[in-house]
Amino acid sequence: MRFSGKTVVVTGAASGIGAATATLFAHEGAVVFAADINEEGGKMVCDQGQGDLRFVHCDVSDTASIKALMDSAASETGGIDTVFNNAAAGGARAPIDEIEPDEWDMTMDLVLRSVAFGIRYAVPHMKGRPSTQNGGASIVNVSSVAAIGPGYSPTAFAVGKAGVLHLTKCAAADLAQYGIRVNAVQPGFINTNIFTTSLEIPEEMKSMAKAVIAQSSANAQPVARGGQPKDIAEAVAYLASDAASFVTGTSILVDGGLTVGPRHCWDEEAESPMAALLAMEEQVKAAAAAGAEAANT
Ligand SMILES: NC(=O)c1ccc[n+]([C@@H]2O[C@H](COP(=O)([O-])OP(=O)(O)OC[C@H]3O[C@@H](n4cnc5c(N)ncnc54)[C@H](O)[C@@H]3O)[C@@H](O)[C@H]2O)c1
Repeated sequence: MRFSGKTVVVTGAASGIGAATATLFAHEGAVVFAADINEEGGKMVCDQGQGDLRFVHCDVSDTASIKALMDSAASETGGIDTVFNNAAAGGARAPIDEIEPDEWDMTMDLVLRSVAFGIRYAVPHMKGRPSTQNGGASIVNVSSVAAIGPGYSPTAFAVGKAGVLHLTKCAAADLAQYGIRVNAVQPGFINTNIFTTSLEIPEEMKSMAKAVIAQSSANAQPVARGGQPKDIAEAVAYLASDAASFVTGTSILVDGGLTVGPRHCWDEEAESPMAALLAMEEQVKAAAAAGAEAANT
């Protein structure tokens, strides 16, 4: 019961990572405000979870809606101890040479501004809480492996998630004086609805698509299984707990080793790019030598 007596706000709680994290916090004693635009899914998560889970309708791309969420959680319980800024979607898929201004803005509002204002409107309700005295007041933001570099997601999403990491550091510095810690998690490929939603996969094909995604992500990383929402929830719970009272302004990669490096770093059957290059060089030299010999005869 690490979170007994604490008030926790989780955005994007109707599905995937947010659902698993809201459920875990409530299971460990917190009063959890589970916010989402998906009312049906959010209410189902609250009904199925163990403990005190309360659904709140909130659209994180609307700052007034974020403020209303934080205000209502605080007015019902007296304040907020932990916020998990999690809600987002894949955003615009266009490359940088094709993206339109409104697509860019929509993605940034959803991925980055939502987190900034999740912090902005929660902090007035976090200041002076008992949890600020013992390291238990905490904000956790969701970034992504996509923040590391290209290749994991569309460009606008990747840039927004990199912004979330920088925001996390700046906010940690701003809020330390109030005893509020700010950290991030960077999920790798986690088996949730985000891919099928972003790719607009029809309902009847979703479970097949999710199985394919889980299998291919298992093959792409050293830990040979698909990542699960619970894997991220456990990292969030650690960052929010008193055990992390000396941890702020940082992020935890939870990616099954996806970002350790190219495949040959962990798969002994794979050839390294350098080995391939050297082999090619040898072949070129051998061909040149053979050509010279032929010319001399
Ligand atoms: N699944 C992954 O592999 C992965 C990898 C890196 C980062 N992430 C991040 O993890 C977070 C959670 O994603 P997930 O994988 O659980 O996806 P998901 O689609 O399963 O859940 C996202 C939830 O956010 C909600 N949501 C979307 N837009 C919203 C809005 N405007 N306001 C309020 N709620 C909204 C959705 O209704 C949904 O319930 C996101 O920030 C995502 O970018 C996920």
